[in-house]
Amino acid sequence: MGKALDGVRILDFTHVQSGPTCTQLLAWFGADVIKVERAGSGDVTRQQLRDIPDVDSLYFTMLNHNKRSLTLDAKCEDGKKVLEKLVVSCDVLVENFAPGVLDRMGFTWERIQQLNPRMIVASVKGFGPGPYQDCKVYENIAQCAGGSASTTGFDDGPPLVTGAQIGDSGTGLHLALGIVAALYQRHRTGRGQKVLAAMQDSVLNLCRVKLRDQQRLACTGVLKEYPQYPNGQFGEAVPRAGNASGGGQPGWIVKCKGWQSDPNAYLYFITQAPVWQDICKVIGKEEWITDPDYATPEARLPRLEQVFAAIEAWTVTKSKLEAMQILNEHDIPCGPILSMREIAAEPSLRATGTVVEVDHPTRGKYLSVGNPIKLSGSETEVRRSPLLGEHTDEVLAELGYCMQEIAALRAKNVI
Ligand code: COA
Repeated sequence: MGKALDGVRILDFTHVQSGPTCTQLLAWFGADVIKVERAGSGDVTRQQLRDIPDVDSLYFTMLNHNKRSLTLDAKCEDGKKVLEKLVVSCDVLVENFAPGVLDRMGFTWERIQQLNPRMIVASVKGFGPGPYQDCKVYENIAQCAGGSASTTGFDDGPPLVTGAQIGDSGTGLHLALGIVAALYQRHRTGRGQKVLAAMQDSVLNLCRVKLRDQQRLACTGVLKEYPQYPNGQFGEAVPRAGNASGGGQPGWIVKCKGWQSDPNAYLYFITQAPVWQDICKVIGKEEWITDPDYATPEARLPRLEQVFAAIEAWTVTKSKLEAMQILNEHDIPCGPILSMREIAAEPSLRATGTVVEVDHPTRGKYLSVGNPIKLSGSETEVRRSPLLGEHTDEVLAELGYCMQEIAALRAKNVI
């Protein structure tokens, strides 16, 4: 069946994390992704957080699989001519430069449309139109401006950022969806369009439930599933909820056997209402099945602290995986806190291709996260990231440059 995006050509002008996440996904779905990088240095992440001297960092290799690399000085006249040919021959231009960079290079929306009316121009920016539209933005800024940091952490601590890269990778995912939708619309209209995913917007989209809670709080003055209820105070804004579940089924992180020495000996436990009786039996609190203070979800809400304390008194006697096995036998939803070390070694993630081992000519073997989205008719095969400029000659030849012309561009440091 080939690949879902076979035949789609992407002019990949992305760098760092957000844009590369997007174009890597498109490449995994079969698009031909040509990454344009500055000659000599390339994407700044090639050199960031290096673990092996003079070798592309894991930061870069893990975000740029299945792409081709073309080095190009996009600011000189000869470089711009190459870019123009790429604009004409590609379907999508993806970029995540600081605001205004593409315009300053001379590639305004109008110019791109003139060159190729079918071109889709997809951008990640920190903020959408408004007072902050010209600001540069990195991951944690987006987490803070998108509502995540103010709602993450514990009530008595400062706002917290999360390790999940919801600002960068999260926005890259949003952009990829926008691009695929624009490609689909182009089938009908024959026209390209601009696609914008702002990092603040993407984080907010992922924090949708917190805007829900903001309005519930404004309406009732209380959020009964939050740890501040019933003894703490609620202010005017949604507070940090610790490890409380974001949904209608109360949950919390509880200690398991070995927690004193293992920082990840914990389990997420959800007191799902339909299995309340089983929970009571497993943790040895059968009297709670009929006790009016505990028998219904509503009655339990002011007593969640006591509920989770009783659950923890049981879980500390089991390892997290033992507890999970017992709870799953009763269909009680729970999840172990897995360390990255455990995830790297997890056979089922290897079997599905979610964790893959990749071989790289200068780095050797390394682990990466493969395509988390599985298409039954478009299987992902993870190929290593390109070396800087590895495909420059190949791409230029495809654009019609002969060997002498390529050599001349190289002599002038254009490529
Ligand atoms: N040839 C010539 N010049 C090139 C080039 C190439 N191949 N590729 C990039 N450049 C130039 C650009 O033209 C720009 O020059 P200018 O400012 O003189 O116009 C310059 O490189 C720097 O680009 P910029 O995007 O401003 O990089 P930065 O390192 O200063 O900022 C970010 C990095 C991430 C903060 C910024 O790009 C940004 O805010 N991006 C949007 C939000 C985003 O994606 N953030 C998350 C990143 S994970």
